[in-house]
Amino acid sequence: MKKIRIVIVEASIEKVPKDLHKHPAIQNDAKRRRRSPDKILLYLPIHYTALLSKGINTTKRGRPDILHRLLLLIQDHPLNKMGLIETYFHTTNDEIYWVNPETRPPIHFYGFEGLMIQLIEKGRIPPEKEPTLIKRLDLTLEELVREGDREVYALEKEGIEIWKTDIKKIFGNTLLIGGFQEGEYRRDIADLIDYRLSLTKETLKASTAACMALTMLYQSIRI
Ligand SMILES: C[S@@+](CC[C@H](N)C(=O)[O-])C[C@H]1O[C@@H](n2cnc3c(N)ncnc32)[C@H](O)[C@@H]1O
Repeated sequence: MKKIRIVIVEASIEKVPKDLHKHPAIQNDAKRRRRSPDKILLYLPIHYTALLSKGINTTKRGRPDILHRLLLLIQDHPLNKMGLIETYFHTTNDEIYWVNPETRPPIHFYGFEGLMIQLIEKGRIPPEKEPTLIKRLDLTLEELVREGDREVYALEKEGIEIWKTDIKKIFGNTLLIGGFQEGEYRRDIADLIDYRLSLTKETLKASTAACMALTMLYQSIRI
């Protein structure tokens, strides 16, 4: 059985921008956690007023917890343990990262934040030791999703009902999941999609959608 290449797209993993370091919401968070503002991820639930003060788009930025939940779920899924998943994530500023199938992200968000800061700064974690758990890759999203003539499937509310498709076809191909809280795939990313698969008529949390789809894929090869 061929592997599914899962690519989480438009994940918001970024350090607090320098021009927000002096904002009270950032200062308070940094002081409370005894961290420098330069060592904190932009995080909407805590930094809401700071994001608003600069008119930052809150539908696509400031939610690193979405990527955290997705990675916890995907890395722990039986399909990953069977060696049938390759996990990658793409960020809102177009960086691409590979995740080792053996990587088990920290369950505490602040532990995950520490790793992501190191990843942004050094390009890989751990920076020097082996094995590499996560590393930045020097390629475009298009090169990643299409490599070896893969077809590109995407989970999306406005798609064909997943129950009506032969989902086994996703094995050997790419599956996109939006790592953002609201809105549609960015135009250039939407243009890469061949098949849109809908799980329900309502918008789901990205981690719920991923869990449902992976479980269907798991069952498709068990029966
Ligand atoms: C919070 S949603 C983004 C909202 C987006 N407007 C939507 O309707 O899918 C984040 C991601 O979860 C997945 N998702 C959410 N609801 C879904 C659904 N009903 N069917 C399939 N995938 C869904 C998609 O990959 C989406 O990009």
